[in-house]
This record gives sequence, structure tokens and C-alpha cells, in this order.
Amino acid sequence: MKAGEQSPGSKPLTLGDLRAMRESGEPIACLTAYDSTFAVAQEAAGVDLILIGDTLGMVVQGHDSTVPVRVDDIIYHTQCVTRAVRRPWVVADMPFLSVRSPQVAVEAAGRMMQEAGARMVKLEGGESQVAVTRALADQGIPVCGHLGLQPQLVHKLGGFKVQGREAAAAQAIVDRACELEQAGADMLLLECVPNAVTQGVVAATSVPVIGIGAGPHAHGQILVMHDMLGVTAGRKPRFVKNYMAEAGGVEAAFASYVGEVKSGAYPQPTHGFG
Ligand code: KIV
Repeated sequence: MKAGEQSPGSKPLTLGDLRAMRESGEPIACLTAYDSTFAVAQEAAGVDLILIGDTLGMVVQGHDSTVPVRVDDIIYHTQCVTRAVRRPWVVADMPFLSVRSPQVAVEAAGRMMQEAGARMVKLEGGESQVAVTRALADQGIPVCGHLGLQPQLVHKLGGFKVQGREAAAAQAIVDRACELEQAGADMLLLECVPNAVTQGVVAATSVPVIGIGAGPHAHGQILVMHDMLGVTAGRKPRFVKNYMAEAGGVEAAFASYVGEVKSGAYPQPTHGFG
């Protein structure tokens, strides 16, 4: 399929569809994408949710963190994706400092929806983002809260480290998840947390929970596309599986990933943190 072509019968997924997948136990298969060619291949492979992540700063722009990414970068890459796909639920990432106040966040998220066609925005953060989430939700903007490892804080954290290992930190993540849901978040993403923390969040909330390095208990899984295609330079996080290694091409790699997420074959306990 080329950019702009639609697979027959591919109705756009809605938030209701994603909630129904949570209820029915059908895992939600998610990947990042940043351009139309890969987004089309992901749609053809059955990917349910495409995130235009601020990881584009690292895998596309060549920075060593996501910090330099700007709202305009996310808008440009989201436009590249939304022009090309129909069925996947498209989520745009709120980059560093774009959520520094409710007003700034509403303006940036509004542009992502109006200029780029995003259906949801994702924002990193805990306590300080509860008010921002409420402001976005009040304007009718679907929100995914991102908890656990927050790569935008890399310079404060001193690296990309697993979060929520100690009991108090684990409880704080579960508490934040509840606060974000109460503030209006429609989805949660957990990055690099022990499996038990994911179980705690899933039990305490009623929205779809997507995991990355968060074990097998989330309602959906996401990976950075370049990581699962095995083309990212440097050390790979332990939760990443290289789907290109055995596939004959990019589409087959995406299809294999979707198949393994849907069947529960990915992630294995070895891909998570105890
Ligand atoms: O920016 C991104 O790609 C992300 C993933 C790590 C989920 O947030």
C-alpha cells in the first residue's frame, strides 16, 4: 500500500475501540513512526496505535536526548503520518517544556490536533502534570499520561534508569496514575517500571495502559520503531526485541511484532524488570 491508499474496511479506531480492547483482553499493538512510508507499512501490518514520539530527536534528528525536540518538529512529523494512515489511533508527543503550564500545553496540543491531525497527545510527568491534564481534558483533548521513566528528565536523572523499584516510588507511580485518570487522562503509558508496578496501575485504573519495558501485564505494548527494526545505534534496552533479525523485510517485521503482541508472545519475562 502507498501513502494515502486505504485498506478496504479500515475504519479509524476510536477511543471507545481501544477501551473495548482493554475490556475484551485484546492487546493493543503500538509502535512509533515519524514518516508516511513506515506509517503505511505499520497500518498494513495491523498496528493499532502510532505514536509520533519525541524519540524522533534521537532516532531521526541525531540528538543524544529528546530534550531539543520542538513542538514544530512533532507537528511536521505528525502531519507526515496522518496524511498516510486511516485506521491507527495517532498520538502526538508533547515535547520538553511544551507542558510547562496549562495554557502553553493547550495551545501546543491544539496545534497538534488542528494542524497535524493528531487524535491524542501524550505528556510525560507526574504530579505537576495533573493540572495540565485537567486543562487539556477540559478542552476535549484526549490525553495519554506517561509515567515511570521520563526521558525528558534524563539530565536530572543522570541516565535512562528503571523507575519505581522501591516501594514508595512504586506507590507514587500508582497514585499518580489514579490522579491523572481522575484529571481526565484517557490512556496511560508506563516506561521502564517493574512488572508489579504495571500490575498495580492496571488494577487501580480503568483506562488502557500501554507498556514499554513494563512487562506483560499492560493492555498494550509499544516500542520505538528503530529499536525493533534493529537499526538503532548503540546499546539496546533489554526489553527490545529485534523483529528484523528473522523477518524478510520491514512489513514482515511489523507483522511479526503485531502477531506476538496480540498473542501475548511479546513481551517475555526476560524483556521486563522484576
Ligand atoms: O517518545 C517516544 O517514542 C516514547 C516511547 C518511548 C514510548 O515516548
